[in-house]
Amino acid sequence: MLPTGFAPIPVKLPKILGEDLAGVVVEAPEGSKFKEGDRVFAGTDQFFKSGDQGGTDGEFVAADEHTVCLIPEGVSFLEAAAVPVAGLTAWQALERVFPLEGKRVLIHGGAGGVGGFAIQIAKAHGAHVTTTCSSAKVDYVSKKLGADVVIDYTKGPWEAAARESLGGERYDFVLDTIGGSYEAASLRLVKRGGQLAGVGATGPDVARVSLLGMAALLFNAGWRTLMGRLGLAPKYHFVMTESKASRGLEQIAELMREGKFKVHLDRVFPLEELAQAHEYLEQGRARGKVGILIKAMD
Ligand SMILES: NC(=O)c1ccc[n+]([C@@H]2O[C@H](COP(=O)([O-])OP(=O)(O)OC[C@H]3O[C@@H](n4cnc5c(N)ncnc54)[C@H](OP(=O)(O)O)[C@@H]3O)[C@@H](O)[C@H]2O)c1
Repeated sequence: MLPTGFAPIPVKLPKILGEDLAGVVVEAPEGSKFKEGDRVFAGTDQFFKSGDQGGTDGEFVAADEHTVCLIPEGVSFLEAAAVPVAGLTAWQALERVFPLEGKRVLIHGGAGGVGGFAIQIAKAHGAHVTTTCSSAKVDYVSKKLGADVVIDYTKGPWEAAARESLGGERYDFVLDTIGGSYEAASLRLVKRGGQLAGVGATGPDVARVSLLGMAALLFNAGWRTLMGRLGLAPKYHFVMTESKASRGLEQIAELMREGKFKVHLDRVFPLEELAQAHEYLEQGRARGKVGILIKAMD
């Protein structure tokens, strides 16, 4: 959003971009649970800060302690840096429907950052996972991420395929990372008492980022939340990701330690090619995560 020049709140320029980080602690305040030399990762909340505070696309970053978590042994800095914001988003979307044992979950955009992490979290918690992606990524989401049913949305109406895959039954939970018409269609697939969490607005029929588009998104989220609360539609919530490590990053670190959560890096760009990295991300075609290498340290 910010790289395109649009900000929903006033932003002081120049601004350093980037919300994910992984690196080594160079300085920690007295009484901190971290010390110099600790290998850490974090998702900062720089989006809401002004100027050069907190942006992670640089060699040194000041991060709030509550956002920081130790990197599990055996995980590289690049892998760790790929996790925070997408991982926290996936976790915070799913946690409301824990426990997931035996539940049927539909995750849109399974080949992307949020969707791919959500598949792994849902599988680690015992859910049956159906996901949508394009043809070239079917093998990736089934073999590498472990989705039970993969629907190639380029091959025809995904809605019918999603319904058929459960033999006409409905889903306990849908995670929609696409938005637009995906949301309305997905709500029809949620069973009574089930839920839908929305996180994104990047689908083919979603208005490009603008103040009007933002207002429409917020109005839509408010309306759907109200309908869900009144019992006139499935429960709905739009996830606004919180950067506190205790809201998902620490739990994901534990899954990584247990080998139940892996990071798949689609491409890694050097810092000098940050603009190209953003252009690539804007295409929304990544298979897993895109990394920025600032300084090799592993
Ligand atoms: N609410 C929040 O606080 C929050 C936080 C983080 C992210 N987000 C939002 O969440 C969304 C996803 O983020 P991300 O980081 O996962 O993006 P991403 O890594 O760029 O992934 C997007 C994925 O969507 C897939 N896709 C595109 N069109 C599709 C379609 N019609 N049906 C199914 N899959 C489709 C693409 O794969 P294919 O090639 O398979 O289509 C791609 O892998 C974005 O809109 C982002 O802004 C929101």
